[in-house]
Amino acid sequence: MARKVTKAIFPVAGLGTRFLPATKSVPKEIMTLVDRPLVQYAIDEARAAGITEFIFVTSRGKSALEDYFDHNQILEQSLKEKGKDELLKTLNATNMESGAIAYIRQHKALGLGHAVWCARRLIGDEPFAVMLPDDVIAAEKPCLQQMIEAYEETGGNMVATMEVPPEKTSSYGVLDVGDNIGTAVRARGMVEKPKPEEAPSNLAVIGRYILRPSVLYNLNQNKLGSGGEIQLTDAIAEDIRNGVPVFGYKFDGQRFDCGSKAGFLQATVAFALARDDLREDLQEYLHDVIVTGQAAQ
Ligand code: UTP
Repeated sequence: MARKVTKAIFPVAGLGTRFLPATKSVPKEIMTLVDRPLVQYAIDEARAAGITEFIFVTSRGKSALEDYFDHNQILEQSLKEKGKDELLKTLNATNMESGAIAYIRQHKALGLGHAVWCARRLIGDEPFAVMLPDDVIAAEKPCLQQMIEAYEETGGNMVATMEVPPEKTSSYGVLDVGDNIGTAVRARGMVEKPKPEEAPSNLAVIGRYILRPSVLYNLNQNKLGSGGEIQLTDAIAEDIRNGVPVFGYKFDGQRFDCGSKAGFLQATVAFALARDDLREDLQEYLHDVIVTGQAAQ
């Protein structure tokens, strides 16, 4: 049986240039879908999957992210005094246990693979998850939990995959697909950002991974890949060449690319419509905008 996965790496050291000027001072991961920062969705998903150690790979200008996970004593005290128990519960659910969270700096934005490699000493010799908070997945059973359950059967490395329109392959890592085994496919290879005419399939890798430490050894070589960056995809592809099984897991759920403005807006609408306190007003507003072309007053 595969070894239990208890550690997750959250690479959040990217520059977030698609959200400038906001990301000049606000880390992308702190931007909110309705009233919760992107990173909170990722943490909740990780917890549901049994993760107990949370490793953030950060960079200059991300201190708001570290502050977010601290207890805010003054705010807690004030809510307590005013008897605002519901808000206090919401706030307490965001607190992290002392020692459960670690931060490590990526000193240069050399790519996702490099960011993951920066956490190698905290991982040691055990399997680990990688979660990109930009990818928010709405699912009945959280995506990472689905993957861990599948991984317990398969072992090896596992990446979350979904079909994308063929013209979009150049935005993703793409699988060369081998055997189909239920909800997963065995990968024969992986390519980062292939042009549509060169893509081996339209099965794209999105931001959830369960990886063996061998991927970290592959990253040790610090080889530059697509875009002059050190790519995680290349290190996983090397494992395939070394005979380690790699599976693409076709998760159940809807993925929003919150690293892009369009995806972020779609997620905002979807998550707001899922909320009892917001649904009706928003539906009315959207209806007015669509039908009459005018915003409700
Ligand atoms: P993106 O490709 O979305 O890059 O990174 P980005 O810098 O966050 O955003 P844009 O493209 O400039 O708008 C995917 C994930 O990999 C992390 C990012 O923080 C994000 O979670 N990453 C990327 C790093 O941690 N380090 C890097 O050097 C590059």
